[in-house]
Amino acid sequence: MLPASSCGVSPLFGRRPGADLIHNVVMVSIALRRTAGSAETVRAHRQWWDAEAEDYYAEHGAFLGDADFCWGPEGLRESEAGLLGSLAGKDVLEIGAGSAQCSRWVQAQGARVVATDLSLGMLRVARTIDAHHPARGVPVAQCDGRVLPFADESFDIVFTAYGVVPFVADPERVMTEVCRVLRPGGRFAFSTTHPFRWAFPDEPDEAGLTVRFSYFDRTPYVEQDSSGHATYAEHHATMSDRVRQVVTAGLRVVNLVEPEWPDGHEREWGGWSPLRGQLIPGTLIVVAERPLGQLDVGGGTG
Ligand SMILES: C[S@@+](CC[C@H](N)C(=O)[O-])C[C@H]1O[C@@H](n2cnc3c(N)ncnc32)[C@H](O)[C@@H]1O
Repeated sequence: MLPASSCGVSPLFGRRPGADLIHNVVMVSIALRRTAGSAETVRAHRQWWDAEAEDYYAEHGAFLGDADFCWGPEGLRESEAGLLGSLAGKDVLEIGAGSAQCSRWVQAQGARVVATDLSLGMLRVARTIDAHHPARGVPVAQCDGRVLPFADESFDIVFTAYGVVPFVADPERVMTEVCRVLRPGGRFAFSTTHPFRWAFPDEPDEAGLTVRFSYFDRTPYVEQDSSGHATYAEHHATMSDRVRQVVTAGLRVVNLVEPEWPDGHEREWGGWSPLRGQLIPGTLIVVAERPLGQLDVGGGTG
C-alpha cells in the first residue's frame, strides 16, 4: 500500500487510504494517479459519501455550523464575502450540498432554496440536523450535479461550497447544466481546491511546502480497492482550465477569489493548515453569471 504522499496529492476531504469499515466490510484501498471516467467516479463518490456522511459531520459539523455558510477550510463565510449578492426572495439551488448547512443559512436570508446532493447519506444527516433545528426544514433532493432534474431557467442563483466540482471527471457538464437552470442574469458561485495545490503533497506541515508534482499533470487522484475499482477520486484542473470550463458553458466569470488564511485561525483540515495557508492558496472561488444576452464564447485551448 502506498502512502498517499508518495503517489500524488491525497484526498482533500478524505481519510488516508488504508483499511476502512464500509457497510461492515473491511475495505482496503490504495492511492494512485490514474485516469477515471465519469461513471466510475460518480459510482465511487455515491458509495464513499454515503459511508462517510456521519463521520464527516462529526469531524467538521461544528466548524461548518448547522445553519452557516462556509466557503472552505480558511473559514470565509458568505456573511462576510457576499459573493452571491442579495438573497431575499430569490430562487436558489445548492449542488453538492452535503448536509445543507449553507442552504439553511441561505433560507434564513429569505430565499427559496433547494439543497441537492448525490449522496443519500449526506442528505439523511441534513434531515437529522433539521429535526433538531429551530428553522423549518430545507427542501432536499438527491441528484448528480451533472444531471439536474430542474426545468430550464428555474433559479436566480446556483452555488456549491466544495461540492461536485473537484469530484467529477467532466466539470464542463456541471457548468452546462448550471447554465441551463439559471435564469439570464443569474449567478453561479463555487469553491474548490485551489489548482496550485496539486503541485504539492497534501500535507499540513513542511512536507507540504515543496513542489513534488507537475501542476500541469491532470491525471486524477484515485483510491481503488483490491479489484481495481475506484472508491474515491478527485480531478485536477488548472486555473485556466477552470475558467475555460465556465466560459465555454456560456457563463461569464465576474470574480475569482483566493481566500487568505486569517490570523488566529488554527484549525487544520487535511492538508489545510495555518502554516501552508499563510504561504500558498488553498481554495479557489469562482463567481460567474449567465449573461442577459447571447455570450460570444471565446475559442482556443491555451
Ligand atoms: C466535501 S463535501 C461538501 C459538502 C458541503 N457543500 C459542505 O460544505 O460541507 C462534497 C459533497 O459533494 C457531493 N458530490 C460529489 N460528487 C457529486 C456529484 N457528482 N453530484 C452531486 N454531489 C456530489 C458529495 O456527496 C459531498 O456531499
